[in-house]
Amino acid sequence: MISLYSHSHNLVFSQTLKHKPIRPLPDFFQSYINSFESHLARQEFIKNPKGLEIPIAYICKNGGKRIRPILVLLIAEMTKGKPAKSLDAALSVELFHNFTLIHDDLMDQSLLRRGQPTVHEKWDDNTAILAGDALLIMAYQQLKNYPTQLKVTMHELLSWVARIVCEGQREDIEFESKELISTHQYLEMITKKTAYLFACALKLGALVGGTTKKEANLFFDMGLLLGKLFQIQDDYLDAFGNTKIFGKNTGGDIRQGKKTILFTKTMELGSESQKNRLQTLFSRKNTSPSDRLVEEVLDLFTSTKADIHTRNLISSYLENMESQIDKLNISPDQKQKFSQLMSWISNRRN
Ligand code: IPE
Ligand code: IPE
Ligand code: MG
Ligand code: MG
Ligand code: MG
Repeated sequence: MISLYSHSHNLVFSQTLKHKPIRPLPDFFQSYINSFESHLARQEFIKNPKGLEIPIAYICKNGGKRIRPILVLLIAEMTKGKPAKSLDAALSVELFHNFTLIHDDLMDQSLLRRGQPTVHEKWDDNTAILAGDALLIMAYQQLKNYPTQLKVTMHELLSWVARIVCEGQREDIEFESKELISTHQYLEMITKKTAYLFACALKLGALVGGTTKKEANLFFDMGLLLGKLFQIQDDYLDAFGNTKIFGKNTGGDIRQGKKTILFTKTMELGSESQKNRLQTLFSRKNTSPSDRLVEEVLDLFTSTKADIHTRNLISSYLENMESQIDKLNISPDQKQKFSQLMSWISNRRN
């Protein structure tokens, strides 16, 4: 059996992964990625980067799954928008996403992103701050060619989401130094730091497509569900993934003392002694966490079955998404495409 996970206790996925090739995304999404990549490659800051545009072009060209732009393009198409019209909105969301990544890596002291050195590691902290700031502004500028009313709506949406993402990121950092965080608090925090941008991507697609306000908001709510599912999977992969496939150093959340779903579930499910041990392992002060510590935390995540509960939570969000997709006024073929993307996201390994 091929196990794609570095942690030997994890059987939950390795069973389902038997003989399956590792694919970046279902094949039919490649056309969305191709048109997005061509649009990106046409941008002046990519063709001929100067000054701050050099780290900006670096992160933008460093790959990534392009999930958010794919969502914009897919939803715009579903809601009868012209593909060429949705490319700027798709790029805007990806620029915004890359802004959050550069700042996030600085805050989380992460050294690896998409298998490459992070911007603050390759350049320095100030470059990371400024490149992130510039990317946020560029996300707005990318919308300049939309009709005025649509542009104002999009700008308002981006601004609202930007403030919420900042708040979520603040909570994420604040939780590092808190002893006890509940699953409820965790879910609220990831909704802000991650899910709102997914919701924004879906709604932007619907706005470009020119759907009703009611349907655009239905897409927004679906995006919130999808974003939560996405972040829970990210936390799972940070613990049990494979660095080479994931493109980020696994165990980073544990070393950083992040209160992820695996932490909150272990605190819910563990015996008194397991909970005390987890608290002790997370409360180290000024000591750099060893590989042994990471292994011990992973053992607690599995022996309390927090890992399985986490996977079950992902499945329940997926089911919820499926029932939302059913309510949409789209063709069976589009429903199938959408649901294949959802299921890929919940089983992704990178
Ligand atoms: C990483 O997002 C940040 C999270 C919200 C977990 P992605 O996993 O979509 O990052 P890329 O763009 O594919 O690298
Ligand atoms: C991602 O949280 C949230 C944002 C980037 C806003 P993480 O800190 O878990 O993201 P990764 O794992 O570094 O991509
Ligand atoms: Mg991070
Ligand atoms: Mg973070
Ligand atoms: Mg993460």
